[in-house]
Amino acid sequence: MLVNVIGLGYIGLPTAVVLAENGAQVRGVDVVEQVVDSVNAGQVPFVEPDLAGHLAKALECGRLTAATKPAPAQAFVIAVPTPFLDDHSPDLSYVKAAAESIAEYLDDDSLVVLESTSPPGTTRRLAEWVAQRRPDLTGVAYAYCPERVLPGKVMVELVSNDRVIGGLTPDAAERAAELYGLFCTGQLLRTDATTAELCKLVENSFRDVNIAFANELSLVSDDLGVDVWELIELANHHPRVNILQPGPGVGGHCIAVDPWFIVSADPDNSPLIRTAREVNDGKPKWVVGKVLDAVAGVDAPTVAALGLSFKPNIDDIRESPARAIVKQLAERLPHGKILSVEPHLKALPPDLAALPNVAKCGFRDAVGQADAVVLLVDHQAFAGRAAEVPAGVPVIDTRGQWIR
Ligand SMILES: NC(=O)c1ccc[n+]([C@@H]2O[C@H](COP(=O)([O-])OP(=O)(O)OC[C@H]3O[C@@H](n4cnc5c(N)ncnc54)[C@H](O)[C@@H]3O)[C@@H](O)[C@H]2O)c1
Repeated sequence: MLVNVIGLGYIGLPTAVVLAENGAQVRGVDVVEQVVDSVNAGQVPFVEPDLAGHLAKALECGRLTAATKPAPAQAFVIAVPTPFLDDHSPDLSYVKAAAESIAEYLDDDSLVVLESTSPPGTTRRLAEWVAQRRPDLTGVAYAYCPERVLPGKVMVELVSNDRVIGGLTPDAAERAAELYGLFCTGQLLRTDATTAELCKLVENSFRDVNIAFANELSLVSDDLGVDVWELIELANHHPRVNILQPGPGVGGHCIAVDPWFIVSADPDNSPLIRTAREVNDGKPKWVVGKVLDAVAGVDAPTVAALGLSFKPNIDDIRESPARAIVKQLAERLPHGKILSVEPHLKALPPDLAALPNVAKCGFRDAVGQADAVVLLVDHQAFAGRAAEVPAGVPVIDTRGQWIR
C-alpha cells in the first residue's frame, strides 16, 4: 500500500515509521525542509525513546522516504498541528493547508485519514476543502482517527492502544480500519467521524474537569485550614470515590488545549468544561499569591522554584504552569531573585532566560539561599529532599510531594 503521512512531528513521524515497518510504502511529508532532511538522514528531530532505531530500520528496508511535497498514493494520513487562537477557538489553517496540498494527488479510490486533534465537523470540512480544489472527485473516503499515545512511550502505545476510527461513511471507517490493521494490535473501534472527533476531546476534558475538582478542593482546604492531601486520601477510602491530585495548574499541549475545542463548538452547553479550564488556568496565579505572602516583608527576596516542566521526569515545558509561575514571580518581585531548578533542561527557555532576575540553579544552591521554596513539579530528583531546606524557610508544595 502506498501511503503519504502529512506532518512529521511527534505523531506523524512515528506513524510513518510504523507503517513502513509493517509493509506500507511510505512517503513522509513535511513543509519544513530541515525536518525532511533530518528524517532522510535517520535523525529524529525531537526526543522520543526507541524512535531512532525504528526509523533506521524503516529507512534501511527502503520503504520510507521524506519529502516536502506529497505524491500519488492510496492513503493519506494527516498529522499536522491544531493549536488554538487567542480567543481559544481552534486554528485549522494547518489542516486546510494539508488538505489543499494533497488534493491534486487524490483519485476516486483514495483514503484520507485525519489524525490531528480537531473540533467536531473538521473531517467534513477537510472533505469540503478538497472538493473546492477537486470538484471532479466523488469517491474519496474520509475518516478521523485520533491519537492517544503517551509521549515517551509512543513506539509501544502506537501499536498496542485501541483506536477509535470514525468514517464520514461506514465504508470509509472500514477502509481506515484496514490501514490501521497493518500495525495496530489494539481494538479498531468503528464509528462516525463526529463521534470520533468528540471522543478525543472528551477524553482530555474528563481529565481536565477531574483535576479542576482537585484544584478547587486545594483552594477551599487552604481557606479552611485543612490539609488537602490528607482530605483526598481519606475521601478516596470511599469505595466509589477517586479524587485526583491537585497541582499548580494543568499543562501540556493536550489537556490544557483540547477542552476549549468543545467550548468553542458548543459554548451554551459546556459551562462545566469551560469552568474547569478557568479553575485550572487560575491556579498559577493563586500559587504566586502564596509565594508572595511567604516572602512579604523581605526586601529583595530569593525564591527557589523547583521544576519547570508540565509533568514529572520529562523536559516538555509546553503550556507548563510551573513556567508561568516562575515568569509571574519574576514580574511581581522585580528586586528579588527566582532560582529555577530544572534537572531535565540544560538551559532556561528563552522567555525566562531573558528576565534579569531569573537564573538556573542547582537544587542545593537554590534552597540554601532561598527565603521561600516553591515545589512546582514532583520530579523524582526532588523526592525525599525536604530536609535540605533550612529550618524556618517556608515551603509551598503545590504537588504534595513532600507532604504525602
Ligand atoms: N504530541 C502528542 O503527544 C499528541 C498526542 C495526541 C494528539 N496530538 C495531535 O496530533 C497533531 C500533531 O501533533 P504533533 O505533536 O505531532 O505536532 P508537531 O508540531 O510535533 O508536528 C507537526 C508537523 O507538521 C508539519 N506541518 C505543518 N503544516 C504542514 C503541512 N501543511 N504539510 C506538511 N507538514 C506540515 C510541521 O512542520 C511539523 O513538523 C496535533 O493535532 C496534536 O494535537 C498530539
